[in-house]
Formats: sequence, structure tokens, C-alpha cells
Amino acid sequence: MVKLIIDTDPGIDDAMAIFYAAAAPDIDLLGLTTIFGNVTTATATRNALRLLEAAGLDLPVAAGATAPLVLPPFKPSAYVHGEEGFGDIPAAEPKGKPLNEEAADFLCRMAREHKGELVVCPIGPLTNIALAMQRDPEFIRNVKSIVVMGGSLEEGGNITPHAEANIYHDPHAADVVCKSGSKVVFVGLDVTHRILCRPEDFAAIAAQSPDLGGMLQEMSHFYIKFYREVAGLNGCSLHDPAAVIACTHPGLFGMRGVPLEVSCGGETSGATLAAPDSARAPIKVCMTVEADAVKSLFLRRLALLP
Ligand code: BDR
Ligand code: CA
Repeated sequence: MVKLIIDTDPGIDDAMAIFYAAAAPDIDLLGLTTIFGNVTTATATRNALRLLEAAGLDLPVAAGATAPLVLPPFKPSAYVHGEEGFGDIPAAEPKGKPLNEEAADFLCRMAREHKGELVVCPIGPLTNIALAMQRDPEFIRNVKSIVVMGGSLEEGGNITPHAEANIYHDPHAADVVCKSGSKVVFVGLDVTHRILCRPEDFAAIAAQSPDLGGMLQEMSHFYIKFYREVAGLNGCSLHDPAAVIACTHPGLFGMRGVPLEVSCGGETSGATLAAPDSARAPIKVCMTVEADAVKSLFLRRLALLP
């Protein structure tokens, strides 16, 4: 059983990842922390609470940073995930409230309380994770691992030709995480672009899980429209679910140990670059994936939901 906290900017594929974690019998979800990216941090926090309530989970949500470490705050684009984060699904207020504890402090405390056992899975920009590392030097020693959805080594970018979106939105924070050493795993575009979920897959999920699967199917229309327009694909990549699946099924991924640096300016800002001559410890970067197995796990487990 993996004790997991997901750091998230929900977000359509974030919703898929969180519902997957709710369904997975090998995940003990301890809470969510939120970050800007697909939406603002305030909307991400509201959406995280909404998703947990929809899934019937009474878990803590800690709101995170509202701006990148160094770059100025930015207005999220509605193009990929919609104005409210869930495609065409309208805004709604959850009943619950976030903790009176910031995301970075919550992460440090949970890592202390579950020393050696906590896996943190950031599926948005890495600001909260970098802040946790800066606030508590023990944080990285206390966690079991940090499994990041982000980056691209050989695949090129998805927000610029060089950068993957999560890294691009706070490259300085991503560089702090890259410096922190061997407990970090990157699940980036090199593998997530290999896993495509099509409209008929979401229809199958909705048929078996009308409530939660139905909600994902509704969101997926907007997300797949974006993929059709931009990439000519009749489906979407399972970015964030792949990172959550890598937390419990690392064997489905082929990893390469690479010391990584993040470009923090200019045309290549947000690119994750191999830095073999640096003094940095190698990070595990996922380069291959058993895509059919990851997708089938995703579909099978979501079908267990109501
Ligand atoms: C990442 O960017 C966001 O749009 C997605 O939610 C995912 O975390 C993919 O590049
Ligand atoms: Ca995300």
C-alpha cells in the first residue's frame, strides 16, 4: 500500500488521476495539496475539494502557493482545461474548506509523520514541492519518493517547442527539485505521449461508473477537442494518471538515471536538460512505458467507482 499525497492543479487529467487514486486498492490517499497551473490556486483548491466530495472521500486539502518562486504570477489559459478547470462543467462550490495550513507546511508535516513511507506525486507546477524543500531540509530525507508529472527529455515540449507545461510554469521550482537528488522520478512527455485515451474508452468508463466515470467522460469532450485541434488526435494523453500509476507500478516504466537541469530563461525556458557534467545526482527519468498495461489498469480501476 502506497501512502500518497497528490499536489495538483485540477484540471481534467488531474481529475482522472485523483479518481484513479480513489479507486486504486494499493493507494492510501492521505490528502491533496493545490497549486496554480491549469487554473488559479483558489480554483484548484475549490476543484480539489469538489473532486474529493464527489468521490465520497473526507480528506484534507491544503492550499498552495499563488505564484511561482521567481517568475511573476500569470493568468491561466482556459484553452486546454476550460474556465473552471473541468471543461464545460460549470463552477460549483464544495461544502468543505481547505486546512488552515499551507501546502508546503502540510507536506513537511506529513513527511515527518509518515517518515520513510510518504510518496508525493506532484501533477502541477513544482512550487509547493520546492518550498517544502526550502522550508525543511529534512523533507527530502523524510519522503519515500517524489514522482513528478513533468518534463521532457527527448520528446520536445507541449506548451513551447522546448518545455512541458508543469515545468514551464515554474522552472526555478523545478530546478530546485532536480537538484534534490535520487528520490525524484520524472514521468514526462517521453512516456505520457505514448498513452492515448479515446472517446470510446471514456464511454466505456462512463457505462461502468455512471457518476464519477460519467463526470470524467463529460470533461473529456473538452480536453479531446483541444487534442484534435492541436495535434490531430482523437484522444488525450493520460499525463497525470501515468504519474500516479508510476507510484505503485514503477515496473511498467523504463527509467534512465539522468542528472537534470532546468532552463530558467530565454526561448528554452522550462526545458529539462541532461547535465552529465554537473555535480547533480541522477534523477530517474521515465523513457519507455508499457502503454497498454498502464491504460488497461486505468480503465479497469476507474470502472470500480460508482
Ligand atoms: C500537464 O500540464 C497540465 O495541463 C496537465 O494537467 C498535466 O499536469 C501536462 O503537460
Ligand atoms: Ca496537472
